[in-house]
Amino acid sequence: MQQVSDQLRLEAKKIGFVPTMGFLHKGHLSLISKSKNIADITVVSIFVNPTQFAPNEDFNRYPRDIDSDKKILEELGVDYLFLPSADDIYPFSFQTFVTVEELSKIIEGEYRPTHFKGVTTIVNILFNCVKPHFAIFGQKDAQQAAIIKQMVNDLKMDVVIVVEPMVRESDGLAMSSRNVYLSEEERNSARLLYSSLLTAEKFVQDKEIDPERIKREMKVMLSEDKNIRLDYIKIVNADTFNEALFIEEGNVYYVLIAVRIGKTRLIDNILVRPGR
Ligand code: PAF
Repeated sequence: MQQVSDQLRLEAKKIGFVPTMGFLHKGHLSLISKSKNIADITVVSIFVNPTQFAPNEDFNRYPRDIDSDKKILEELGVDYLFLPSADDIYPFSFQTFVTVEELSKIIEGEYRPTHFKGVTTIVNILFNCVKPHFAIFGQKDAQQAAIIKQMVNDLKMDVVIVVEPMVRESDGLAMSSRNVYLSEEERNSARLLYSSLLTAEKFVQDKEIDPERIKREMKVMLSEDKNIRLDYIKIVNADTFNEALFIEEGNVYYVLIAVRIGKTRLIDNILVRPGR
């Protein structure tokens, strides 16, 4: 991969990179389409990264379908698929990790304390292999995107991070490879996530300034469905990821939510701007 990228760079080609864990869906397709718009060459990686899963999480059952993924990538005209093995990435002698200290501890980090360390480490390794000019991530994992931006900034990495808006199913459910875990009943319950986020958006547009009030209303909505167990609702400044004490005009906020439905953990978010 490094040799391919060196050659492309010699030819003055701009390389766009979409890192994925495979089982591609429309959310990935929008990232690929962005890369194709802004770069000359698009590289997609597929690697289900063991270091970002805790021992009690779903690494083993994470959905995989490499044949279907390859077909999709071919149809989309993606230039290169980077498909390393676990041994390529993490040989027996491996011992170096990259951590964005503070941002990795909060919000998702409170529930998944080792997750972001695994993400930043693999993203570093992938960047060193692919040597992209641009790397495209989804807003679905908003905190992940913020952490990667922080890492790139802190380590003066020579790559532009692009964050693309969320893609949703027609019923509002955020696209995720993990949606296949949901039974029909669970899937119905999952729709409430987006409804609750839209409620939050409406409050913000209607000039509600108290984040606690908004979170309370969302909790009431979610508590009506017995399948939903709430991990958190947070309203944070979209630039800093600090929790908002007040919703202030001129700022942009993420309303972030994480729930468990059956054995599946889902996250979702919405970007909100106070109305004028
Ligand atoms: O967002 C993902 O799919 C993963 O966290 C990533 C960025 C591919 C790293 O494994």
